[in-house]
Amino acid sequence: LSAALDIGTTFSGYAYSFKGREKDIEGCKNWGANVSVCNHKTPTAVLVNKDGKFEAFGYEAQERYKSLEEDELQMYSLYERFKMQLKHTEKLNRDSMSMALDQRSFPLMDIFTMTIRYLKDHLLKSVNRGHGRSVDSEKIRWVITVPAIWSGAAKQFMREAASKAGVRDINRPMQLIIALEPEVAGLYVASKYQTSGTSSRETDAFRPGLEYVVMDCGGGTIDITSYKIQPNQTLNQIYEATGSSFGGTKVDDAFVEFLSQIAGLDVVSTIRQESPIDWLQLMITFDHKKKTIQNKESDKLNIEIPYSMHEIAWEVTGRKLSDIVNNQRIPGVKCNKRMLIIDHDIIQDLFRNPVQEIVNHMKKLMRLPQLKNVSTILMVGGFSESPILQAAVKEAFGKRVKVLIPDDASLCVLHGAVAFGHNPNIVSSRVSRMTYGQGVMVTYDPEKHEADKQRAEVIESIERQTNMMLIYVKRGEVIKVGQVKEFTSFPVRVNQTQIDHEMYCTEKSDVGYVDEEGVEHVGSWTTPLEGKGLDREIKVRVFFGETELVVQTRQIGMGDKEWVQRSFDFLSS
Ligand SMILES: Nc1ncnc2c1ncn2[C@@H]1O[C@H](COP(=O)(O)OP(=O)(O)OP(=O)(O)O)[C@@H](O)[C@H]1O
Ligand SMILES: [Mg+2]
Repeated sequence: LSAALDIGTTFSGYAYSFKGREKDIEGCKNWGANVSVCNHKTPTAVLVNKDGKFEAFGYEAQERYKSLEEDELQMYSLYERFKMQLKHTEKLNRDSMSMALDQRSFPLMDIFTMTIRYLKDHLLKSVNRGHGRSVDSEKIRWVITVPAIWSGAAKQFMREAASKAGVRDINRPMQLIIALEPEVAGLYVASKYQTSGTSSRETDAFRPGLEYVVMDCGGGTIDITSYKIQPNQTLNQIYEATGSSFGGTKVDDAFVEFLSQIAGLDVVSTIRQESPIDWLQLMITFDHKKKTIQNKESDKLNIEIPYSMHEIAWEVTGRKLSDIVNNQRIPGVKCNKRMLIIDHDIIQDLFRNPVQEIVNHMKKLMRLPQLKNVSTILMVGGFSESPILQAAVKEAFGKRVKVLIPDDASLCVLHGAVAFGHNPNIVSSRVSRMTYGQGVMVTYDPEKHEADKQRAEVIESIERQTNMMLIYVKRGEVIKVGQVKEFTSFPVRVNQTQIDHEMYCTEKSDVGYVDEEGVEHVGSWTTPLEGKGLDREIKVRVFFGETELVVQTRQIGMGDKEWVQRSFDFLSS
């Protein structure tokens, strides 16, 4: 069984299929039935009670929260949009906190663990129901998807949360694979079109030898990767993953800003704080309306205003909300007791900035020589369903390449992740997004190191050049999946009992020293040393091209010691 979980910024879901019937992908197709919606994904929302216990997830969490009485409110907190924090928290670590709608906070790790556990249990129940028996946990390959542009720390964070949620058996690391969202979405679409058989515009886009770019435009992230299809149908990545945070929620943010302009910042921030339930409802209403926005002139848009907003406007300003709004005489905006009535082009305006950012990013990317042979742009993710974004991308690139948008754009990641779980070797090479390496000291050599003399230091009477970066992989370097590189290091003290390997990364492709600007410490591990002397040789073996980096070390000549996998801790630094 391949079982995939997609935890999105705004929506989450799961899907699975059995070996032998890989294409029969199943999942929950009626999330939100209790609130009369029917969706393949459910909102990424976690309801936690004041004792820190999990209460509910998704539509159910939102509904439970909305039905709380005033005096019950302080007993529960609703956490949403927490995925973005993994990207934006500086120095992400195990104690990073997540912020709830009511400004309370809770450990981010626990929120992720609750989310994964909930989806996992829901999936297993669905499997059992459908098949009349439970599946042996050893026979399940779990796949959790993450944006391709995430850091090693964010990926490790997800892995640890998965472990805590019982998705991973410590003795079987391959039971859980971390898959890259745009990559698997592209895989799914390509294989869907390839197997549709007859020659068509879509099928022709995915013939061996052709190159394509996938844009996963989600709620929080725009995540872009590119591939060349090999004769044996495996994929080679042709350029590193890039992207930005200009997802669909940027349109929501623009709406909040617009509200602050027409109703006043005080009114908006007071309602957010004092009436979180009404605020939640307002944003849900907006999300629904937003999905109906077309790219052409159409009717006005009515957005229901919660009653408390009127009350708060009165309390804060002493004026009626409708007066505050209407007196500004903003063309295309009217307010009455129940509704905010907005002209269509004002709503379209809210899309302008994020859409422009996405198109500009793509323009820069498509100009790169590495991408000059790309013949198709594939748009996936929920935001790709927006006719405004579609039109902008087609206008910018439609003359040069095919722009394809599958009908199930927001589910491609999930379905692709299931397929990837069955066949993770489908991607045969990837391009490193960062330069990775380790800090080392070498014997000082005046010819090479003269210019950087300030880094020299005498240790046990040998002059050493310190802080040098031993590069494992350079940014932009193509690495075959499963490729291994070996490096050697030696102790600098005769009686040294361990080597501390300090790992660094940088966006620079050329770097000499770990203390240069733009180089970041990302983790460390130690190799115990036996014996004495400066000639004790330590081998470092680095495995690349999987979706994560794995490092092993061993001391040479110490019996037949096995390679020791050094768990690489991105989260402690
Ligand atoms: N027809 C539409 N028009 C405009 N926006 C849409 C439409 N359909 C979905 N969206 C937006 O797309 C986003 C959801 O997309 P998706 O489910 O792919 O994101 P996610 O997986 O939650 O986020 P991410 O992948 O960034 O973590 C939401 O912001 C939603 O409002
Ligand atoms: Mg997504």
